[in-house]
Amino acid sequence: MTYHHFLSAIAAQVRPKKYLEIGVNKGHTFNYVAPYAAEAHAVDPNPRVIKRIGHVPSVVWHNMKSSDFFKKGCPDGLDMVFIDGWHKHETSYADFEGVFPHVINNGLIFLHDTYPKNPHFLAENLAWDTWKTALKIKNEYGDVCECTTLPFWKGLTIVRKIAKDKQLAWGMYA
Ligand SMILES: C[S@@+](CC[C@H](N)C(=O)[O-])C[C@H]1O[C@@H](n2cnc3c(N)ncnc32)[C@H](O)[C@@H]1O
Repeated sequence: MTYHHFLSAIAAQVRPKKYLEIGVNKGHTFNYVAPYAAEAHAVDPNPRVIKRIGHVPSVVWHNMKSSDFFKKGCPDGLDMVFIDGWHKHETSYADFEGVFPHVINNGLIFLHDTYPKNPHFLAENLAWDTWKTALKIKNEYGDVCECTTLPFWKGLTIVRKIAKDKQLAWGMYA
């Protein structure tokens, strides 16, 4: 199993109303996840990406960098997000900050490349320093989300957005 299959299995449970993937490349994850989503937003500056994902009926294509996508306006009501674009820490953290206000309570945000298995993987074309983003999210957003990092597949961080001091995202229960 790869992280593509893992995210696909999660999507099969979530059945996202609105999925967003930042950094799509060949569509290996997008093409597994988007079929479960009513609306699947794809953000990538590479114009060739649409040829690889255009067959998915739910696709909404944003051919731009994530920074321009946020300037244009990120859709509300996101229930599943995968951040896998430019792997520099500052960029992936900006992507997280950009999406967070648009994610519903109980929504899931995944970040790739957050646990390089050895120093070789800190290279710019591999995981780079995105691991710092997972750490910063835990430090800065710890009271409004649950967060864990799976230490394989170069690291997959899972963030569940919750209201402050709540375990459950519904009703009057803490
Ligand atoms: C690692 S690949 C994505 C892999 C894909 N998510 C998957 O699981 O198969 C990174 C992608 O991010 C895109 N990218 C690079 N800079 C970006 C940026 N500033 N905003 C959004 N996407 C970016 C690249 O064009 C590339 O397609």
